[in-house]
Amino acid sequence: ELGGVKISKDEIVRDDPTNNIPDTIFAKLGMQLHRRSQHPLGILKNAIYDYFDTNYPDKFDKFDDLCPIVSVRQNFDEVLVPADHVSRSYNDTYYVDSQTVLRCHTSAHQAELLRNGHTHFLVTGDVYRRDSIDATHYPVFHQMEGVRVFAPNDWEGSGTDATSHAAEDLKKCLEGLARHLFGGVEMRWVDTYFPFTNPSFELEIYFQNEWMEVLGCGVTEQEILKRSGRTDNVAWAFGLGLERLAMILFDIPDIRLFWSTDERFTSQFSSGRLGLKFKPFSKYPPCYKDMSFWISDSFTENNLCEVVRGIAGDLAEEVKLIDNFTNKKGMTSHCYRIAYRSMERSLTDEEINDLQWKVREQVESKLKVVLR
Ligand code: PHE
Repeated sequence: ELGGVKISKDEIVRDDPTNNIPDTIFAKLGMQLHRRSQHPLGILKNAIYDYFDTNYPDKFDKFDDLCPIVSVRQNFDEVLVPADHVSRSYNDTYYVDSQTVLRCHTSAHQAELLRNGHTHFLVTGDVYRRDSIDATHYPVFHQMEGVRVFAPNDWEGSGTDATSHAAEDLKKCLEGLARHLFGGVEMRWVDTYFPFTNPSFELEIYFQNEWMEVLGCGVTEQEILKRSGRTDNVAWAFGLGLERLAMILFDIPDIRLFWSTDERFTSQFSSGRLGLKFKPFSKYPPCYKDMSFWISDSFTENNLCEVVRGIAGDLAEEVKLIDNFTNKKGMTSHCYRIAYRSMERSLTDEEINDLQWKVREQVESKLKVVLR
């Protein structure tokens, strides 16, 4: 069963020539970590629900079981993503077939819920993106979308125009949420662009010596409201990255841990409550392997990362470009450093050499590059 739509995995056609979903990703469909009350993502979801229930009693409709397989129309067209936007590419998004994708954001459900008459809602779910490999990126992660629609009498008499009213309310709401979750943390707003909001903002929180983006938000584009029959309204929307918030909240150092079945991880969250800090069982050493090759025009880092993950799975901790040059003949060479590390045990040299050899083989055969 996959979310609201009851389909079994074997009913999903996977032999479409445009399908770019590897087995490792396919295997994650239906896991729904956000619905486990003793998992950090489920605990966080419930804590956010508490915030909304306290501040807006009985207002927000909650969805956490909508099917992650959506149409290109839902994922992109209905939220005004331009036809030539990079996020639509096969390099960035997992396609089931040319008209169907694994949602790359929970915004894929905005338009339909608005059309169905919802004015206050939260949508939580697993989302999928082809991406790089490091401590804060994983090709499957979880988001919570929030949308609030205002009627004219909400802003009339407030002394500000509709858009400013919505933007101010949005920032207040999310700052309140951050305080509810974290107490005091260092945070900052950054102006940004999304096709579906204007103005648009990101909230960043200081964590592990860096500013980390934890959510995107903004005032909903009027066109989206118009198409849902709400010309006279304004709305705000946000999309929270649940893993990133949970990493800060529970001190979880690496995004792969959310998928761990090691009971030294899972047992730490069995109370189902906030307020605990994750205690790493021990730091196992990373092992670094470098690999250099001449790239071809079609080479992309996301494709490389997918090869690495296909072989090493969650043992791949980071893939980083450490050298890049073009010679006199115009050939470009990249050197990548791959960090292998298990969160759960020490790896043997033999095991890592074996992985690295397989990676080298497949990089050469699948990515049309020439190893050096
Ligand atoms: N969908 C955006 C993302 O995934 C986040 C977002 C949601 C931004 C709603 C604005 C409004 O990055």
